[in-house]
Amino acid sequence: MSGNVTLDVDFARSFFPALNPSWSFLENAGGTLVPTTVVNRVASYMTETQVQPGTNFDASRIAAERMDEGREIMAAIINAKADEIVIGPSTTNNVYVLANALRPWFADGDEVIVTNVDHEANNGAWRRYADAGLAVREWRMDPETGELNIDDLQALLTDRTRLVCFTACSNITGSINDVAAIAKLVHDAGALVCVDGVAFTPHRAVDVKELDVDFYLYSIYKVFGPHAAILYGKPEHLARLENQNHYFVEGNPFLMLSPGGPNHELTAGAAGVGDYFNALYDHQFGDEAADTHTKLSRLFGLFADHEARLSAPLVDFLSARSNLRLFGPVSADMDKRAAVFSFVAEGRDSAEIAERLQQKGAGLRSGDFYAARCIDGLGVRPQNGVIRASLVHYNTPADVDRLIKCLDEEV
Ligand SMILES: Cc1ncc(COP(=O)(O)O)c(C=O)c1O
Repeated sequence: MSGNVTLDVDFARSFFPALNPSWSFLENAGGTLVPTTVVNRVASYMTETQVQPGTNFDASRIAAERMDEGREIMAAIINAKADEIVIGPSTTNNVYVLANALRPWFADGDEVIVTNVDHEANNGAWRRYADAGLAVREWRMDPETGELNIDDLQALLTDRTRLVCFTACSNITGSINDVAAIAKLVHDAGALVCVDGVAFTPHRAVDVKELDVDFYLYSIYKVFGPHAAILYGKPEHLARLENQNHYFVEGNPFLMLSPGGPNHELTAGAAGVGDYFNALYDHQFGDEAADTHTKLSRLFGLFADHEARLSAPLVDFLSARSNLRLFGPVSADMDKRAAVFSFVAEGRDSAEIAERLQQKGAGLRSGDFYAARCIDGLGVRPQNGVIRASLVHYNTPADVDRLIKCLDEEV
């Protein structure tokens, strides 16, 4: 809980021009809206400093400074330092680059563990190791609930296990995994962890140091920023990874693991996420002395409380209807789940229902959301996957009421 302070949703929403009461945006897990502060940063970068950054004429120097500001906030969101992150176009791309860079660390016959809950981003690149001499093991979810059980992972760990790749939060079930406990178990077995934080980072304060993760990924376009993504690595790992850029780009993991370099205007634009968080923090708490991590922790505490309040009636509705099957925790407890709700209606096609809901102003969708193995594992492929509604801090009780009313009419 965040003391007596509650989120001023109207103030938050005033930064997002796309939001208005005529519709409800419920597809946040696909990508969040951006505040005007991000738009302004991208616009000023492109109008004033769209030059190669990092040399000594004014526009170039300022361009580099603006990109540095973007890097700082993207690192701070997970309590990392700017030189501990790599910026790429997407998490999918970042995992591919990481998988290539890590391969020389492993010997033939070594084992890598992936899950069948994860989005394909933290799956496919690792599963390709099977063609390159490694053994790939699958940590399987409970097919009824979609939950990963730590005991099942324990049983898969051997003295050949080198890497365990799993998600902090499923983009289908919303279920949160105990990343710190899993990382400890894996480290005790002598292996590394690579954590997909894409579905988790928009909802909770993340501290990669406290979690003690080796690699952590998230996409800033799902955390109110532009379309770019972050790979964090422990500095001692980043320093040892094989260069994936031009042979002469040496000594700088930020460039070595970002072939071609990051998108300039979007890196600079990410600083607008920091502008937004600062404005919201000042409005809610007005304590300018706090350091960035403390500010983000307090702000995300407000987000979690707000999402819990939004989630409670939705969980009640979805679990009370006997013809609906909700995946993940049947709970609005934000320690157990994020506000990502996937469900199917008995004997009904999810795409057909989603279309009806869309026509009534619900901005959501259906499908497998690129977590194809999860959808197959849950046995809902024949229904065209799940219907997914995902909420973030700028959603309102009216959004939830609209969804419940539409569902009540359509299923
Ligand atoms: C949990 C999760 N991981 C990874 C990704 C892939 O992210 P990107 O689009 O940045 O490759 C997504 C995108 O939906 C996701 O939800």
